[in-house]
Amino acid sequence: MVFDPPPRRPLSPAGTAPDAPRRAPFSPAASAPGLAARDREFEFTPADFERIRTLIHQHAGIALSSAKQDMVYSRLARRLRSCGDRTFAQYLARLERDRGEWETFVNSLTTNLTSFFREPHHFDILADQLRQVGEKRTIRIWCNAASTGEEPYSLAMTACEAFNSLAPPVQILASDIDTSVLAHGEAGIYRQDRIERLSDARKSRFFTPRSGADAGAFEIRPELRRLVSFRRINLLDPMWPVQGPLDAIFCRNVMIYFDKPTQYSILKRFVPLLRPDGQLYAGHSESFMHAADLVRSRGRTVYVRLDSPLR
Ligand SMILES: C[S@@+](CC[C@H](N)C(=O)[O-])C[C@H]1O[C@@H](n2cnc3c(N)ncnc32)[C@H](O)[C@@H]1O
Repeated sequence: MVFDPPPRRPLSPAGTAPDAPRRAPFSPAASAPGLAARDREFEFTPADFERIRTLIHQHAGIALSSAKQDMVYSRLARRLRSCGDRTFAQYLARLERDRGEWETFVNSLTTNLTSFFREPHHFDILADQLRQVGEKRTIRIWCNAASTGEEPYSLAMTACEAFNSLAPPVQILASDIDTSVLAHGEAGIYRQDRIERLSDARKSRFFTPRSGADAGAFEIRPELRRLVSFRRINLLDPMWPVQGPLDAIFCRNVMIYFDKPTQYSILKRFVPLLRPDGQLYAGHSESFMHAADLVRSRGRTVYVRLDSPLR
């Protein structure tokens, strides 16, 4: 059910057991480029990289180019160290027998870059949209790929400002595939450097300074937090626990990790969830021209359904 209270940690585990990895025998000449094989702490062959690339694509839709070998190595090396594995082959075998490891595997390979009011023009457009709907009903927003929470809390701040109230008629579902970033968002505690670009008015209205061990950090005010529920949702899952109609879908800076057929199939499922006058907000480098039979651009990477009354 959409907008139910979020599940308490641990957030739901990811994944299904993979097929058995196909392995190529290791040889230094066949090792992945970048950091020289002999300098690597863990044996990492091209076959290991291919296997990881296939698994993360099948499971999360993330399409890794071959230029990402060093990134994959460094992200997973930490995990091998803490598991006590000596080679990527051993780690892949662990992944095969231990379903619980999938969550950490996926969490390690996601890229979670975000910030408060990233691509700020979208929040101005949303504020206009909210004011147009007014207070006659609850406005429902799904912020997927929400990472560590800065984006859904920016939506909540926008709603508070648009209605000049800490209890605006707005519900925000924040979701992501990565359980560690969701836990961060749920906790709602941010270091000073994460909020330093916010105005003093926003800082004092929406955050409380922490003390003790967390001194220097800031916590989202409970009124704001009440507007946002966090939930693990993999956009690739065949079922989403989300019901329409939605006024807005924020799906920003995640589609770039997916190939076009994956993007299209997700967009096809967004459209019936949107209200006819609802808006889909995409990231600045994401274009859905290939889905012109599904959505129409309103400019500035805001899209609407083809049958939308909005021009
Ligand atoms: C670069 S961040 C974008 C954060 C935020 N939307 C923004 O624009 O600032 C991409 C997020 O997409 C999430 N993600 C990647 N694959 C996903 C999937 N299959 N389903 C849901 N979220 C996914 C990642 O975990 C990550 O937090």
